[in-house]
Amino acid sequence: MAVDSRRWAVITGASAGLGADFARQLAASGWHLVLVARRLDRLQALADEIRNAHRDVDIEVIALDLSQADAPAMLLERATARNRQIQALINNAGFGTYGPFEELPWDRQQEMLMLNVVRLTELCWLFARHMREHGQVAHILNVGSMAAFQPTPFFAAYGATKAYVRNFTESLAWELRDTAIRVSCLSPGATRTEFSDVAGIAIPALSDRTQMESPDVVRRGIAGMLAGKPQIVPGFINHLNAFISRLLPRRILAWGAVIAMGGRETMRDRAGDK
Ligand SMILES: NC(=O)c1ccc[n+]([C@@H]2O[C@H](COP(=O)([O-])OP(=O)(O)OC[C@H]3O[C@@H](n4cnc5c(N)ncnc54)[C@H](OP(=O)(O)O)[C@@H]3O)[C@@H](O)[C@H]2O)c1
Repeated sequence: MAVDSRRWAVITGASAGLGADFARQLAASGWHLVLVARRLDRLQALADEIRNAHRDVDIEVIALDLSQADAPAMLLERATARNRQIQALINNAGFGTYGPFEELPWDRQQEMLMLNVVRLTELCWLFARHMREHGQVAHILNVGSMAAFQPTPFFAAYGATKAYVRNFTESLAWELRDTAIRVSCLSPGATRTEFSDVAGIAIPALSDRTQMESPDVVRRGIAGMLAGKPQIVPGFINHLNAFISRLLPRRILAWGAVIAMGGRETMRDRAGDK
C-alpha cells in the first residue's frame, strides 16, 4: 500500500474542551484527524460537524481509555494503519482531582497520574519513534498547565503532573532539536471547558472573569506548535503569572493558588471538622 503522507494529527481528549477545538482548528487548515477519547458518541458528533464544514478532511475516530496500560500501543497501531504518517501528536487528554490530598479517592488519583504522566510519556516515546522513521517535519504538543509554575495546595498531585509535563517536554524538545520533530508544551491557565466540573472546583468569581475561551487558547497553541516553540503560555494574565512565579517566594505562590481556586472554603471546612 502506498504511503499516506498527507498531514495527519492525532488528538487525545478530543471529545470536549481544548481537544475538540484543536480538531476544529486543525481541520480548518487542512489537517486530517485521528480523534481519541472514551465517549464515542461525542467523538462521532464532532467528526460529523467537521466533515460538514470541511468535506475534504478525513477523520478516524477511536474510542479508547488512555488510562489503561495497553492503550498507547493500540492507538499507535490504529493511527498509523493504512500507512498514515502522523505529523502531529496533540497529547491533550487529562483531568484534575481537587480537594485535600488524603481525602481524595486513591483510585481516581492513580488514574490521573497514569493518564497525565505515564501514558502521555509513552505516547511521546511511541510517536517520536514513528516520526523519526518517516522523517517528515512533525510536531508533538503536550498540554501542561499554569499549575506547573507554582505549588498548588488541594490540587497537589494534579499540579505535580503538570510540572512533570512541563519539564519533560522542555528536555525532549532539547534532545530532538536537531531532528525534524518539534516538541512544545502548551500551559493554559483557567479556561472555560468541562475541566473544572470534572475536577470538582467551584471557581471564585474573580478567577471566573479571567478565564480564557478554549478556541483562543487553542489558536495560540497551534501557532506556537507550528513555530516550534518549546514553551507556549497563552494570554497576558498567564504571561504575568509566569513572570511573577519567578520572583515571589514559593509559600506566597502557594497561597495565591489557594485563593485563585477557592481553596479558602476547603480550609474552613477542614477547620470545622476538627
Ligand atoms: N480548562 C482548564 O482550565 C485547563 C487549564 C490548564 C490545563 N488544562 C489541561 O487541558 C487539557 C484538556 O482539558 P480540558 O480543559 O479540555 O478539559 P475537558 O473539557 O474535561 O476535556 C478533557 C478531555 O480528556 C478526555 N479524557 C479524560 N480522561 C480520559 C481517558 N481516560 N482516556 C481518554 N481520554 C480521556 C475527555 O474525554 P472522555 O471523557 O470522553 O474520555 C475529554 O475529551 C487537560 O490536559 C487539562 O489538564 C486545562
